[in-house]
Amino acid sequence: MTILQLEKRILWVSVAFVLVLFALAALAVNLFHVGLPTCLTDIKPFQKGEVITHSPTHYEIHYVAKMWKFEPENVTVPAGSTVDIYVSTPDVTHGLSLLGTNVNLMVVPGVVNYSRVKLATPRNYQLLCHEFCGTGHDRMATNLRVVDQASFKPAEAAPATPQSQDSGYRLLEAKECLSCHSIDGSEGIGPTLKGLYGRVEKMTDGKSITVDDAYLRESIVDPSAKISAGYDDLMTKTELTDAEVDQLIQYMKTLK
Ligand code: CUA
Repeated sequence: MTILQLEKRILWVSVAFVLVLFALAALAVNLFHVGLPTCLTDIKPFQKGEVITHSPTHYEIHYVAKMWKFEPENVTVPAGSTVDIYVSTPDVTHGLSLLGTNVNLMVVPGVVNYSRVKLATPRNYQLLCHEFCGTGHDRMATNLRVVDQASFKPAEAAPATPQSQDSGYRLLEAKECLSCHSIDGSEGIGPTLKGLYGRVEKMTDGKSITVDDAYLRESIVDPSAKISAGYDDLMTKTELTDAEVDQLIQYMKTLK
């Protein structure tokens, strides 16, 4: 096969063009830190909710709306505070309405919305989701309490719990199990894991089951197989190795 002079030239130009393109891309990434668009949940402040104190009268709250709760819950600020509210969500469209104020935001995946409010006098404000976002929508509410200056105690940084060191706990966190299952007995989208092992659970079909290794394994691997009474079949399958499933079961046994 012979390659014509002209074809050769076209090939060289094409190769040079592609190389220049790569060089420009490398330059953009390294020099200008251009990245691929990312889903918002990769952005640190909105992986979990937090309260930032700028001054004794200026607070910034990063709310994360999830099916079906707001994080952080039950924030308290002193009267006379200016509060900057930022909100986003990793799942579906929610709303944020702070009843009794003008704060009314859409909460859209991939978007951070913002509002500033001055909370002058002590009272309890309800913070609600105002967009129908699924079966737990009506439960999606928390409080923003305003107390007088004198009785306000700044929240202390939570001490690192021994749980956060446990590899089972870290796995629950990494696989986002904790969005739906609490480990402290509080109500969630799914049953709490506290005291679950060995408990007799009623199922939606009326049967009762004593929670043991086999039941936990089945519920983790095939969440729809059996559903606890009072809960919906909402859990999705999670990619886990056998060893990870064992690790979770061992950890759940410690949650007495
Ligand atoms: Cu979230 Cu309705």
